[in-house]
Amino acid sequence: MRKFLMLFCALTISLNLFGQGGMWLPVLIENHIKDMQKGGFKLSAEEVYSVNKACMKDAVVLFGGGCTGEIVSDKGLLLTNHHCGRGEIVSHSTLEHDYLTEGFWAKSLSQEIPCKGLNVKILDRMIELPGDEEERKKAVEKYKNTLEGVFEFTVEKLYAGNLWYLFVYKSFNDVRLVGAPPSAVGNFGGDTDNWMWPRHGGDFSIFRIYADKNNNPTTGYSKDNVPYKPKHHFKISLKGVEKDDFTMVFGFPGTTEEYLPAVAVKAYKDQNYPARIFCRQTRMELMSEAINADRQVRLKYTSIYAGAENAKKKWEGSVLGLNRFDVVKQKIHAENALKSDSEVKNILSEYEKIYSEKYKFIMADAYFYESVYQTAQFKIGEKAFALSQIDTETSPQAVVNKAQEILKKTLSFFSARDSALERKIFTALYKIYSDSCAEFMPKNLKEICSANALKTAEDFVNYYYKNSVLSDSTRLKNIVAKYVYLEKNAKKFEKNISDFVELIKNDVGIKYYLEPLRVYLQQIMPEINAFESQTEKLDKDYQGLLMKLSPETIKFPDANSTLRFTFGKVDSYIPRDGVIYNYYTTLDGVIEKDNPKIYDYNVPEKLKKLYQSKDYGRYADKDGKIHVCFIATNHTTGGNSGSPVVNANGELIGINFDRCWEGTMSDIMYNKEICRNISVDIRYVLFLIEKLGGADNLIKEMEIVN
Ligand code: ARG
Ligand code: GLU
Repeated sequence: MRKFLMLFCALTISLNLFGQGGMWLPVLIENHIKDMQKGGFKLSAEEVYSVNKACMKDAVVLFGGGCTGEIVSDKGLLLTNHHCGRGEIVSHSTLEHDYLTEGFWAKSLSQEIPCKGLNVKILDRMIELPGDEEERKKAVEKYKNTLEGVFEFTVEKLYAGNLWYLFVYKSFNDVRLVGAPPSAVGNFGGDTDNWMWPRHGGDFSIFRIYADKNNNPTTGYSKDNVPYKPKHHFKISLKGVEKDDFTMVFGFPGTTEEYLPAVAVKAYKDQNYPARIFCRQTRMELMSEAINADRQVRLKYTSIYAGAENAKKKWEGSVLGLNRFDVVKQKIHAENALKSDSEVKNILSEYEKIYSEKYKFIMADAYFYESVYQTAQFKIGEKAFALSQIDTETSPQAVVNKAQEILKKTLSFFSARDSALERKIFTALYKIYSDSCAEFMPKNLKEICSANALKTAEDFVNYYYKNSVLSDSTRLKNIVAKYVYLEKNAKKFEKNISDFVELIKNDVGIKYYLEPLRVYLQQIMPEINAFESQTEKLDKDYQGLLMKLSPETIKFPDANSTLRFTFGKVDSYIPRDGVIYNYYTTLDGVIEKDNPKIYDYNVPEKLKKLYQSKDYGRYADKDGKIHVCFIATNHTTGGNSGSPVVNANGELIGINFDRCWEGTMSDIMYNKEICRNISVDIRYVLFLIEKLGGADNLIKEMEIVN
């Protein structure tokens, strides 16, 4: 296998053309460096990835599990996106200190805010492992026992299991919030502009990694921890970009599915995405009304809304692109060309079979997840369900404690949500669930409906609010207080508890959680597991065959949240007939979009003043303007948010934060005509830190070059 792989990798060198997409493994950079250099790149392979020497990879981090960040000082200062730090920014915001709306700038180390639970990982190295499972296990053990240092390990399969690697990380758990622009800058344009070009977001936030006195990772915050001293940090360039400039993005792309068969692409495009889009659209319309009407609701729902919107809009863009470039037809064409090979033919017909037999379960899963699962009532049921299990405890005190603990968690969920809004969402999503999952509707719920003549979703929801003790936090609190307390008379205590457990068990709120879940676990999940294990095996065989028969079609392993680099050039694009999009935007556009009436377009006064007085310091482009964002042909995906975007000298020129909507199909098929990654120009970032935030301390800390 290895020999074959080497041959395969060698083959890809000559086949790879600059700017054709690809998320490459850093350890194999030798295969691409010539191509990159042809595109203008000046660094050696070793300066990008090396195990023995400090190199660029030492300054790239997996941020919070789902984003990327880059280290920009010798004291562990970290840049990532605003939307990657948003959870932290929100969790430290209150109505009095609303860092989300106002921004936050630590002017000294002591002002930095510890972020409990936030983790950052730096890749130490990646090591190829044997294909054979037993041998692989042995090899992993060997490395775990012999590598010196405080490491975390993950074993990752690539090419659907045709290639395996061990990833060795340093994992840091004391990470602190250092800075964030106001949301109207960091998330400028909000969900309206999300995925769109032209874009004007200053989508960055700043953190710092802390280590112990020996510069080793720690398991959490300690006041004795000190800023981490990285092996390498990025220099920051003030040069800006021109059309056709070389750029490279280095980060942790999450998931791509570039080698799906046509039948799978069709199922996504025509069934799965449209269903999910519809569910989210319904939920989002309700949320957005409430968010715009109430600041408190905005704080509570801003992340939930953004999460729902983000994937939804991406799927819409994907459907558009998949149709526009008739990807299904392209795939069929490519498949037909390979079908003379009987193994390929068999695999493809296996795929067809599984999709036609089992896809309805995937759809049931989609509907379950997008409807019932997204209702607050389901999650309250899930939490409160534990109350129906408390009778197994030993001492009365333990029973009371346990009930109080569950109650506390449930109540805190209530206070994190808005009850009026959740009732509306419940009604709308229950309707979708009962309409679209008729075949999987729990018997028990159907019985409740027929016994009580509940015909519509409204009827069911009204019934729930009338009958469930989970429908209201006070009601729940009262019922717990009524039954669960220390009672001298042991018999009475027992009776109280068993009455309570009975009451909870029979509550329609618990049933609303338990019954759909039961159906899901018993009828849907086993089928999905079967679907997945079969497709996993097919994927492995199919990709293995493609590597052999048609290597030009399978150049890189699908993204799986492991470190990758991608390179391309700064470029404009044609979103639709007759329109050309320029490759950069400027502060002029921010001011044009300014609208104090809309939260996401409400440009801070201070930024407007800076614009009027052209107080740009050294951060203006040679055209005299502040450049805000730029686009390039780098092949990126979710997880690449916050990734460093570097120029030909390996200097930081931007922070990746999005893709252009028309090209979001790149997770399934990259197309250089239409697929663009969006970066915030690093000069805009510096301008905001210095002029808007007044955080000269941070500017001084960074290494800024001309
Ligand atoms: N589309 C970007 C990404 O996939 C940014 C998402 C966050 N921004 C937002 N307005 N929802 O993550
Ligand atoms: N915004 C995405 C993220 O959070 C990056 C955009 C994309 O999907 O390429 O990772």
